[in-house]
Amino acid sequence: MRTVGCIGCGNMGGAILGGLAGALGGKGYVFCGHTRTPERMAPLLEKGVTAVSGALPLAQEADVVVLAVKPWQIAAIVEEILPALGREKLLISIAAGISIKRLKEFSRNLCPVVRCMPNTPALVGKGVFAVCLEDEALRRENKDEALALFSALGLCLSLPEERFTAFSALVGAGPAYVFEMMRGLAQAGVTLGFSHQEARTLVGALFSGSAALAGERPEHLAQLRDAVCSPGGLTIAGVNVLDRAGLAGLLVDAVLAANARGLEMEE
Ligand SMILES: NC(=O)c1ccc[n+]([C@@H]2O[C@H](COP(=O)([O-])OP(=O)(O)OC[C@H]3O[C@@H](n4cnc5c(N)ncnc54)[C@H](OP(=O)(O)O)[C@@H]3O)[C@@H](O)[C@H]2O)c1
Repeated sequence: MRTVGCIGCGNMGGAILGGLAGALGGKGYVFCGHTRTPERMAPLLEKGVTAVSGALPLAQEADVVVLAVKPWQIAAIVEEILPALGREKLLISIAAGISIKRLKEFSRNLCPVVRCMPNTPALVGKGVFAVCLEDEALRRENKDEALALFSALGLCLSLPEERFTAFSALVGAGPAYVFEMMRGLAQAGVTLGFSHQEARTLVGALFSGSAALAGERPEHLAQLRDAVCSPGGLTIAGVNVLDRAGLAGLLVDAVLAANARGLEMEE
């Protein structure tokens, strides 16, 4: 039996721990968590997660230690758990902007480390995760385990660390772009007389249905779009407006701006 422990069970740590307990609990894994405000553990306890009353005892108990506190707290937490770290532990950080190099410095090179970047749909079990498996101290079984854990929560891909900013600009920030598109379409729905709730529900189903269709079909996205546009019909009239406004170019510019800002922040 392997133990996965999470330090910091807030939005993201709680979602990851709860998701893992739901997907892998009793399948060779047990889960524990430690967080500053004990009440936040309540929904996790219902999923079979055990509460541990300190970061160090958690790190002593767990084989895999997930760090899910705010980035500026990572150094202090790793300092606190140093006595528990060793070659047999696997340390995984989801803190934005904290590099493998810094994680290795904080942990005095005592254990293998993985850097992971989730996005917010992880909160509902549909996240996209990038993991960086470049630490030379990682053994094959560490890499397999990190990939297996996050794959149980959504889509997980292994990326070189130099691609993390691009991933953050596209996928980490991505829900904001999607929500903005959803907001505009819901507003159009209200303009056409649907209630706010109806518009939101319809647009939500529109996005999840379209994403599912695009995921199943091999055609290029432009072909899927054209399949909706009957000649002389209503859809092409709407699509023409989007083309004139340059929606695709705007989206490219948005992601490039986020990427540029991310690179600036790393300096
Ligand atoms: N949310 C996202 O979209 C997102 C995306 C990518 C990466 N991340 C990364 O995920 C990490 C967590 O973010 P979040 O949004 O989940 O923040 P959050 O909701 O504030 O969660 C952080 C949790 O850590 C707890 N905590 C603080 N200090 C602690 C300590 N000394 N010991 C134990 N627990 C402690 C906090 O306790 P309290 O409840 O008492 O405050 C809180 O529950 C960050 O490093 C962030 O960069 C988040």
